[in-house]
Amino acid sequence: MKAKIELEWDDEVIPGAEEDLQRIAIECVKAEGIKSSVYAQLRITDDESIRAINRDYRMIDRATDVLSFPAISCTPEKTLGQCPKKLLRERDETGACFLGDIIISLPRAREQAQEYGHSLKREMAYLTAHALFHLMGYDHMNEQDKERMRAMEEKALGMAGIARVTDDELIALAEKAMQFSYSPYSHFKVGAALLSKDGRVFTGCNIENGSYGATNCAERTALFKAVSEGVTEFTAIAITAEKSAPWPCGICRQALNEFAPDIRVIVSWDGNRDEAMLPDLLPHGFGPKQGTLDFLGKE
Ligand code: THU
Repeated sequence: MKAKIELEWDDEVIPGAEEDLQRIAIECVKAEGIKSSVYAQLRITDDESIRAINRDYRMIDRATDVLSFPAISCTPEKTLGQCPKKLLRERDETGACFLGDIIISLPRAREQAQEYGHSLKREMAYLTAHALFHLMGYDHMNEQDKERMRAMEEKALGMAGIARVTDDELIALAEKAMQFSYSPYSHFKVGAALLSKDGRVFTGCNIENGSYGATNCAERTALFKAVSEGVTEFTAIAITAEKSAPWPCGICRQALNEFAPDIRVIVSWDGNRDEAMLPDLLPHGFGPKQGTLDFLGKE
């Protein structure tokens, strides 16, 4: 099996990106279980061009991050991996099968990378994987299809070694958030960066109050930002302080336990680092995922 992306850049080239994208293509096709050789065309362009393509081919007159035009028709019920005969039939003179066209807006990718707190390379890899799975029949019209598509994207990104935000990156984001700490009373600055299951990062700092009890910790600022935007599943949180280990306080342990009882907690201070899993920081946890609230709604 060979999987190739034929890349066309409008102008700007991101160093190392092409290598990543070829690796992603191979892993997406492998994750789908395709054995024959396939290729796709990818054009990396600007907002104006993607808008023109969106208008001319889909009658939607606005820019978007990524477009995909499949060459072979498949459905979420029967994706390309389940159609080996179709793949053989569609082979061209090169012996490979053309999956279709992908168009990505570089400025959009750049904006989204910033919004999600990860690198441009990771965003490009994600958008390419997303489009490739569309070309192989996946869609996100309903919750079940969406979940299957996300799982495939994560699998391929993981196999390509591009999936995860690294601990170093998470700590760097927490340190950046720490700069905004509002702590005129304790002078104890704290920053947090919370990693969601889908790879997004939400940051927060401690926000104190003249009425001391109204103070909010960095971890809960980050958590509440995420939950208030519809994100409720998390895999790790990095917490930073200047001089001593900022292990989360009891209230924050409890707040995290509500959504992510198995979250990994990383603390960093003055060049040092330590980590623990939440169940070790909060034994015998009380929360919906531990079943301790099962009595609710019962007679
Ligand atoms: N703080 C946090 O932000 N996170 C914790 O888990 C521990 C405490 C903040 C709250 C307050 O602004 C300052 O640290 C001193 O308690």
